[in-house]
Amino acid sequence: MYSSRNMCLKWLLLLLIAVAGGAVAAASSAVRRDGGVTYDRRSLIIAGRRKLLFSGSIHYPRSTPDMWTSLIAKAKEGGLNTIDTYVFWNVHEPQPGQYDFSGRADIVRFIKEIQAQGLYTILRIGPFIQAEWTYGGLPFWLREVPGIVFRTDNEPYKFYMQNFTTKIVDLMKSEKLFASQGGPIVLSQIENEYQNVEKAFNEAGARYVLWAAKMAVGLNTGVPWVMCKQDDAPDPVINACNGRSCAETFVGPNSPNKPAIWTENWTHLYDLYGNATRIYKPEYIAYQVALFIAKLNGSFINYYMYHGGTNFGRTTSAFTLTSYYDPAPLDEYGLINEPLWGHLRELHAAVQNCSDTLLYGQQTNYSLGPLQRAYVYSGDERKCAAFLVNADRNNTDIKFQNRTYRLPAESISILPDCNIVSFNTAKVAAKCTERIRVPTMKFDSPMLWQEWREVIPVFDSTTLRSNLLLEQMNTTKDTSDYLWYTAEYEVPADAKAEIKIGSRGHVLRAYINGRLVGSAHGYFRNFSFTLDTTVLFHRGVNTISLLSIMVGMPDSGAYLESRAAGLVNVNVLGNQGSKNLTDKYPWGYQVGLVGERVQIYSMNGSSKVPWSKYTISPNQLTWYKAIFDAPGGSDPVAINLNSMRKGQVWINGQGIGRYWISFPKPDGMPSQTWLHIPRSFLKPRGNMLVLFEEEMGNPLGISIGTVYLKKLCNRYNSYPFLGFSSTRRS
Ligand SMILES: *[C@@H]1O[C@H](CO)[C@@H](O)[C@H](O)[C@H]1NC(C)=O
Ligand SMILES: *[C@@H]1O[C@H](CO)[C@@H](O)[C@H](O)[C@H]1NC(C)=O
Ligand SMILES: *[C@@H]1O[C@H](CO)[C@@H](O)[C@H](O)[C@H]1NC(C)=O
Ligand SMILES: *[C@@H]1O[C@H](CO)[C@@H](O)[C@H](O)[C@H]1NC(C)=O
Ligand SMILES: *[C@@H]1O[C@H](CO)[C@@H](O)[C@H](O)[C@H]1NC(C)=O
Ligand SMILES: *[C@@H]1O[C@H](CO)[C@@H](O)[C@H](O)[C@H]1NC(C)=O
Ligand SMILES: *[C@@H]1O[C@H](CO)[C@@H](O)[C@H](O)[C@H]1NC(C)=O
Ligand SMILES: *[C@@H]1O[C@H](CO)[C@@H](O)[C@H](O)[C@H]1NC(C)=O
Ligand SMILES: *[C@@H]1O[C@H](CO)[C@@H](O)[C@H](O)[C@H]1NC(C)=O
Ligand SMILES: *[C@@H]1O[C@H](CO)[C@@H](O)[C@H](O)[C@H]1NC(C)=O
Ligand SMILES: *[C@@H]1O[C@H](CO)[C@@H](O)[C@H](O)[C@H]1NC(C)=O
Ligand SMILES: *[C@@H]1O[C@H](CO)[C@@H](O)[C@H](O)[C@H]1NC(C)=O
Repeated sequence: MYSSRNMCLKWLLLLLIAVAGGAVAAASSAVRRDGGVTYDRRSLIIAGRRKLLFSGSIHYPRSTPDMWTSLIAKAKEGGLNTIDTYVFWNVHEPQPGQYDFSGRADIVRFIKEIQAQGLYTILRIGPFIQAEWTYGGLPFWLREVPGIVFRTDNEPYKFYMQNFTTKIVDLMKSEKLFASQGGPIVLSQIENEYQNVEKAFNEAGARYVLWAAKMAVGLNTGVPWVMCKQDDAPDPVINACNGRSCAETFVGPNSPNKPAIWTENWTHLYDLYGNATRIYKPEYIAYQVALFIAKLNGSFINYYMYHGGTNFGRTTSAFTLTSYYDPAPLDEYGLINEPLWGHLRELHAAVQNCSDTLLYGQQTNYSLGPLQRAYVYSGDERKCAAFLVNADRNNTDIKFQNRTYRLPAESISILPDCNIVSFNTAKVAAKCTERIRVPTMKFDSPMLWQEWREVIPVFDSTTLRSNLLLEQMNTTKDTSDYLWYTAEYEVPADAKAEIKIGSRGHVLRAYINGRLVGSAHGYFRNFSFTLDTTVLFHRGVNTISLLSIMVGMPDSGAYLESRAAGLVNVNVLGNQGSKNLTDKYPWGYQVGLVGERVQIYSMNGSSKVPWSKYTISPNQLTWYKAIFDAPGGSDPVAINLNSMRKGQVWINGQGIGRYWISFPKPDGMPSQTWLHIPRSFLKPRGNMLVLFEEEMGNPLGISIGTVYLKKLCNRYNSYPFLGFSSTRRS
C-alpha cells in the first residue's frame, strides 16, 4: 500500500550543527536578550546565549497527566534540558470546531509542567505528524471535506491546516508559553518529513512548502520554525535532517545563516505486529551522539523517543503495537531503563561540562591513526575540549597532545579539558536493573467471568445495503475496527465449493451460516491478502458473513485521504457453477459490533446485554467481563494477556488498547502480552475489566500485576541489540 519506507520513526536526534560565521540573526546585534530565540550556524540562541540542548520526545497523549511530573523529572535527572512533543490534531479536534484540551489532551498543562521543572519545549505542530499514530494525527472528518487532498497546494487542506495551526499557536500565546513571552517553547515545527511525499504532488508540492513556511512564520511566535526532512525549507525556516545517519546523508543547512538540525534518530525502531524487536546498544547510541557533536558541531540532540508510552484505545497506526518505544530510556510505564538511561546521563554531563568551549570555540580535527581521529574545540583562555574517536574494532593506543591514551574499540572518549577522559561511549558504568512484572491477581476461576457472545449478523438484519463491496474506511468512518459484509447465497443442492475473498486489509474472518470457515490477515505496509477456502453450502439459502477488521489507520505516505481497506472481491467456484459476488450482488453491511454500539465496556452500557456465566470452553467473537480491586501500592499496573489471541481491552470504560497475541514475531513469540493499565484508570475497588476476543483466547489465563525494577540483571545482554554493523567512521 505504501510506496516507500518513509517512516517518521522517532528516537530522534535533533542536531544543530554549527558551521560558524555568517550567522543570521546571529550578527550579535540581532540577538534578542528578552527570552526570544534566534539561531546562528552554531546553535539556537536563547536569551542571548548559544545553548547545547539535550532533548527527549515525550508525547502527552501516550501517558496520563498523573505521570507527567515524574516523566519530566526523570528526563531532567537524565541530563535533558528540553522536552519535544508532537501536537495531536485528531486528539484535539475530534469534530470540526469542537476542541478537546482535557485529560491526556491537556497540552497546556503538559507544557507548563515542563516549564515548572525549568526545561525547554520543542513543539512539533505538523499538523500532519505520522508518529505511528492513527491517521498520522489527521482527524478522520478531514477526509470527508469535499475536494480535499492532504498535504499539498489544495485550498480545503490549507484552510484546515492553517485553522488548526493558528488555534494551537493562539492557545500557546494566550498561555504565554513561547520563549519570546517568557515561556519554555524555543522551537516549533511545521509539516513533517514532507520531502518524502513531495514528488507525488509535482509543482503543487513545492508551492505547498512555500505556503506552509510563510503561513507558519506569519503566526509570529517569536521563536524559530523547522521543517524536518525538507532540504529546501524556505527562509527563515530551518531545514532539519531526520534519519539513521544524518552525518552521512544530510545535505547541510540550505543557507549559510542556518544551523543544521537533525530531527529524527532512534535508539530502537518502533514495534510492529509480526516483526522482530530492534533495539540499539547504549554504547552505540552514545557513540552516535558524541560523534555528531564532535564532527558536525552538533548542539541539539533529541531522542525519539525518550519515553514512548502507550497507544491507548484505537490510537495506533496500522499494525503498530499498543506499547510504544518501550525500550526507550524511560520505559512504557515511566520506569528508568538501565543501563541506557544512566549511560546517556553520563554522556550528557560530560558534554555539558565543556559546553561553552563547544559552542564558542573553534573546531579542528586531525588524524590519530588509520581509524582514529581527534576533534578538538579551542575556546578563549586556552579552554580546550576533545573527542577522541576510535572506529577500529580493536582497542587502540594513540598519542594525543604528547600523552598516550588507550581508546576502546568502537568508542569515543570525551576530554572536557583536553586532558582527562571523563566519559567513554563504550564503557557502560550505569547500573543495570531488571524489570519485573509479577502477576498478583489471577483470573483463573470461571466464577470470575461473565460472557456475552457477539451476534454474527445475517443479510436480513442489516440496514445498510449496496450492490458493491464498500470501502471500509468510507463506511465505518473510523468509528470501529470492524465492518461486517453479509450476503445470501442460494444453491439447489448440498455442495462443496471454493470461496475466494480478496481484501485490501487488514484482517478477515469468514463465516458461512454462522460457522467460521477461515481467517487471514495482511502485514505492515502489505495489507492486501486473499482468503481461499473450501466450504459446504447446504441446499437453499446460505448466509455469508464476512468480518473485515482494521488494526489502526494508515499514517504515512502521499494521498492518505484516498487509501482503501476492506474487501475487494468475492468469488464462489463450484461444480454447480461459479459466481462472482464482487459487484451487482446485494450486500448488507453492519458497521461495528453490537457490543460497541451499546458501549458494553462502559458502566452503563454493560447492563444493556444479558451477560451469562462463563461456559468453560473459549469462544470466538466473545465479550468477557470481570470485576477486580486495584493492586495495592503505587507501582504501575499491567495486565498479562498471554492466553488470549486477538482483540481489545477496556478498564472502567477506557480503552487500554488492542492485543494481537496470535500474530507472532519471527522467533515465534508474541509481540506484546502485557498491556499497561494506568493507575489513574483504576479505583480502589470494583473495577470493570471488559475484553472483546475475536479468536479463541482463554480468559482463565489472564492475570494482573504490578511492575517494578530489581537491581542487577542479565536482561541487558539478552536483547538482540543492533550495533556497529553499518556506521564505522571517525
Ligand atoms: C477556524 O475556522 C472556523 C470556521 O470553520 C472559524 O470560526 C475559526 O475562527 C477559525 N479559527 C482560526 C483560528 O482561524
Ligand atoms: C542515529 O542513531 C542510530 C543508533 O541509535 C545510528 O545507527 C545512526 O547512525 C544515528 N544517526 C546519526 C545521524 O547519528
Ligand atoms: C517486518 O518483517 C518483515 C518480514 O520479516 C520484513 O520483510 C519487513 O521489512 C519488516 N518491516 C520492517 C518495517 O522492519
Ligand atoms: C568536568 O570536567 C572537569 C575537568 O575539566 C572534571 O574534573 C570533572 O570531573 C568533569 N565533570 C564531569 C561530570 O564530567
Ligand atoms: C564546525 O565548526 C568549525 C569552526 O569552528 C568549522 O570550520 C567546521 O566546518 C564546522 N563543521 C561542520 C561539519 O559544520
Ligand atoms: C577535518 O577538518 C577538515 C578541515 O576543516 C575538513 O575539511 C574535514 O572534513 C574534517 N574531517 C572530518 C573527518 O571531520
Ligand atoms: C585486531 O588486532 C588483531 C591483532 O593485532 C588482528 O589480527 C585483527 O585483525 C584485528 N581486528 C580487527 C577487527 O581489526
Ligand atoms: C609535545 O612535545 C613537544 C616536544 O616534546 C613540544 O614541543 C610540544 O609543545 C608538546 N605539545 C604539547 C601540546 O604539550
Ligand atoms: C505480502 O503479504 C503476502 C501475504 O499476504 C505475502 O505472500 C507477500 O510475500 C508479502 N509481500 C511482501 C513484500 O512482504
Ligand atoms: C469514498 O467515498 C468517496 C465519496 O464519499 C468516494 O469519492 C471515494 O472514491 C471512496 N473511496 C473509496 C476508496 O472507495
Ligand atoms: C469479478 O468481478 C470483478 C468486478 O467486475 C472483476 O474485477 C473480477 O475480475 C471478477 N473476478 C473473477 C474471478 O471473474
Ligand atoms: C450512565 O447512567 C447514568 C444514570 O442513568 C447517567 O447519569 C450517566 O450520564 C450515564 N453515563 C454515561 C457515560 O452515559
